[in-house]
Amino acid sequence: MASSTARPDVPESAQGPGVARRLLDSSATLSYDPAKEVDWETPLDEDFHGASPEWSTLFGTAYWSEMTEEQRKELTRQEAASVASTGIWFEMILQQLILRDVYAKDPTDDTVQWALTEIADECRHSIMFARGAKKLRAPAYRPPRAAVELGRAFKTLAFGEAAYAAILVAEEVLDVMQRDWMRDERVVPFVRTINNIHVVEESRHMKFAREEMRKHLAKAGPARRNIHAFVIAVAAYVIVTSMVNRKVYANAGLDEERALAEARANEHHKAMLRSSCAGLMEFLASCRLLTKPALAFYKRAHLI
Ligand SMILES: [Fe+2]
Ligand SMILES: [Fe+2]
Repeated sequence: MASSTARPDVPESAQGPGVARRLLDSSATLSYDPAKEVDWETPLDEDFHGASPEWSTLFGTAYWSEMTEEQRKELTRQEAASVASTGIWFEMILQQLILRDVYAKDPTDDTVQWALTEIADECRHSIMFARGAKKLRAPAYRPPRAAVELGRAFKTLAFGEAAYAAILVAEEVLDVMQRDWMRDERVVPFVRTINNIHVVEESRHMKFAREEMRKHLAKAGPARRNIHAFVIAVAAYVIVTSMVNRKVYANAGLDEERALAEARANEHHKAMLRSSCAGLMEFLASCRLLTKPALAFYKRAHLI
């Protein structure tokens, strides 16, 4: 019954043992308690970066070449804290999306139990990110007002493949960056631990999101698929453009206007985003979600 060649258009549950069951088993084998695993005690060592410098929004710009090594490290620490804060905002949205999805469903079902496990993971992640950002001496970076309000509508209304695709987009974009940061010896050790924990636990969430997308899309007609393709692309745009808060530059002692202008024109950073999203775009294409209007938004966000 188990099949090794997964077909992207067929739910895995129809191809072998249940995905949710395997995820529950995997979670029982390897999960983390960030309160105990992360070194919260050692004071922040300012000799380290907060993220791999190549992921900085200013890496490769004229401004970057003028900055001192200390300024670069302070900037990547503020950027890492901003990504963590945006992560919390998004994790709050996705916890509500998942909770709404399983509301009043059969709790003895593996899928519902997995959904609750994922919510518990995200709850621990958000506390971990909050403590991490504070330890990086960053203020509370919140997304722009328009993004906060769009998120409020999305978490209240989105359902089916739209909900799980938005979850997948946020998790995939974070995944590639965090894989780099967790291996990078220039990054402060406690941030590397945080990223390691997140990468391990999120790989299960991404499997679940892909499976749920396939399941829901199998029931979706062309009109719904087209509308959702567009909604997902807009969600991806909002998520990606909210990742680094504009205040990080002033907090790193830089000129905000100049930094913003150079970051927006930074071809190196756009190329990093595009290459990190290649697998995601391939998956969305296999789900026939890269419609023309959707593509325009992915291009604007430099995801393709
Ligand atoms: Fe998470
Ligand atoms: Fe997640």
